[in-house]
Amino acid sequence: SYETKADSIIRLMSLDEKIGQLNQITGFQMATGPITDSGDKRKLIKEGKIGSMLNVCGEYATRSMQELAMQSRLHIPLLFGLDVIHGYRTVFPIPLAMASSFDTEAIWQSCRVSARESVVSGIHWTFSPMLDVARDPRWGRVMEGPGEDTYWACEMGKAMINGYQQPFDDGLQLMACAKHFAAYGAAIGGRDYNTVDISMQTLHNVYLPPFKVAAENGVASFMCSFNEINGVPSSGNAYLYDLLYKQWGYKGLVVSDWASIWEMVVHGYSKDREMAAMQAIQAGVTIDMESNVYSDQLKKLVETGKVSEATLNEAVRKVLVQKYQLGLFDDPYRYCNSQKEADEILTDSHRKTAYEMACKSIILLKNNSLLPVKIPQKVAVIGPLANFQRAMDGNWTVATETDVAVTLLEALKNKFPQTEITFIEGCSISGNDRSGFPAAIKSAKESDLVILALGENWGMSGEARSRGDIHIPGVQEELACEIYKVNKKCITLLMGGRPLIFNQIAEKAPAILYTWFLGTEAGNAMVDVITGKYNPSARVPMSFPKHIGQIPVYYNYKNTGRPAVDKEGNYSSRYIDIDNKPQYPFGYGLSYTTFEYGQPDISIEEKFISVDIPIYNSGLMDGHELIQIYTRKWWGESTRPVKELKAVENVFLKKGEKRTIQLKIPFDRLAYYGQSGWEKADGDYTIMIGRNAEDIIFRKNIKVNF
Ligand code: IFM
Repeated sequence: SYETKADSIIRLMSLDEKIGQLNQITGFQMATGPITDSGDKRKLIKEGKIGSMLNVCGEYATRSMQELAMQSRLHIPLLFGLDVIHGYRTVFPIPLAMASSFDTEAIWQSCRVSARESVVSGIHWTFSPMLDVARDPRWGRVMEGPGEDTYWACEMGKAMINGYQQPFDDGLQLMACAKHFAAYGAAIGGRDYNTVDISMQTLHNVYLPPFKVAAENGVASFMCSFNEINGVPSSGNAYLYDLLYKQWGYKGLVVSDWASIWEMVVHGYSKDREMAAMQAIQAGVTIDMESNVYSDQLKKLVETGKVSEATLNEAVRKVLVQKYQLGLFDDPYRYCNSQKEADEILTDSHRKTAYEMACKSIILLKNNSLLPVKIPQKVAVIGPLANFQRAMDGNWTVATETDVAVTLLEALKNKFPQTEITFIEGCSISGNDRSGFPAAIKSAKESDLVILALGENWGMSGEARSRGDIHIPGVQEELACEIYKVNKKCITLLMGGRPLIFNQIAEKAPAILYTWFLGTEAGNAMVDVITGKYNPSARVPMSFPKHIGQIPVYYNYKNTGRPAVDKEGNYSSRYIDIDNKPQYPFGYGLSYTTFEYGQPDISIEEKFISVDIPIYNSGLMDGHELIQIYTRKWWGESTRPVKELKAVENVFLKKGEKRTIQLKIPFDRLAYYGQSGWEKADGDYTIMIGRNAEDIIFRKNIKVNF
């Protein structure tokens, strides 16, 4: 086995060489965290003091680093990791946009392409998927995640991990990384890196399930989160790793986040670097990313017996096993192939996959019968995001060298060469300069159709990109309202890395498409949705707030003893000045066709609830409907949310087509973490079928006995 092979190498290794395997440093160009001084990196690699690198990519760069590793005494190859978050060179929609597709097949396919482009470029390991459930859109990293729902996060995570990790026919394979373990998405106030303070029930019911699913699906690695849980930073949190290794039976490795082992000192948890190294390795953190804490503290710790050599060996074994698994001991340059790199990057077929994913990620939020449109003779394209190429990709595109993304304007011009298209920015993304308004209004007045492209800048979401105010920035919303006054045939496209607030646009716009950051094929997908070549099918993966003061606003809240009623002054759980409800709830999204549901048949089988739903495409176009099943448990040892998503099915129906869809909810899916651990959750339930979390069309009360 690989373990036995690893052990035979471990027997030959010096203490320094063993520690080297646990030491990960960044490359020379990109940095995805604060720079630390690791010394002469090339020399350290030759001495066998570095086991893996991040931020080195491409055949040439990875080969030259690997050549150095081959000069080390034991010729142990390096691992190369990279944040391939939504594509390598072919850029896919940001993960939150992919989440809104609710299409596991398309997500799987997108990850296959990302994996292929990575492995032919020397990369062995992607630091993806980010499985952090998030309820606060101020947090910049919501763009990288699955949104607010735990069940969907599990499904999406599974699809991503399987898409990344399945070996290719030529034997190349990519390691995935379930991050950030755990509860990083619960940072107080949505401020990145902030403290997390949540109950054990919330931790287990909301934040941990996607990670358990990742472990069950053989994810090759986990990454620690930056935050603390219950007063203990994740990088030294024995409770978490006990769960991971002992209860979930995980066998892979755990990498810290960038400098997060050292940061345990800054948190006020570890006394010094020595203690931080000891706490991390003993908790079960295998690799130290960019802290240099393992490299300068572990030797002393092992020599003084504070950390046993067996603990060290166990960590080293995990790293070596992965290197065997990837085939690097057979051929350290297996992933460095300039021919494959030249042939298999940004291919037409990869772009086609990116295009399909982009189409599936666009949410139709509003439509006053304007969409789809036939592109008329005179079109005004207005807005700072209409022709901003970098913004098509969004943040976390660490390997995109040249911007190849197709903008909205470009796509329109390509697809409709006979149309007279005028383009005016009207204003910039931020700032309050209104001097471009008159020209924009004039061109809107003179055109048969206006397409507005507004939103936040690509760098306003991502790591360390939390925003306290998530309104559409600058004077863009004001510009939009001026345009609506002069031309009612106006389509508004909104781009962003999070749910933004835009109440004026929501009220006044005739049609709104939420287009996130869609990647390389952004413009083509936008135009094809506008014209109806693709009928929009995406749904809101994270509630869109109406007011900052509502945040966190999410669909699976608890009822409380005084649930909100819409009357003032009645001592219920509501604000006196704003609504409790979001602007767009979880699961919401329109289509160009209409779907009618028949009477469902809901029955209790031996180990699952069975739901048969007749569904009919009663409109004039083929399209997708997302069938959503929610449950509520009415009472029990612990309170439960008013609604929890327990099954979804993305159904494609031709116009006029009728079908009955069967969904099953295994009883196990109803289990929850209560007062004394996991409860089997017998009891009184309501099963709900909804068009979204607020629009419930069928309800049935049932009793479940496990
Ligand atoms: O993978 C990332 C992580 O998500 C945030 N900090 C830096 C890491 C490596 O780039």
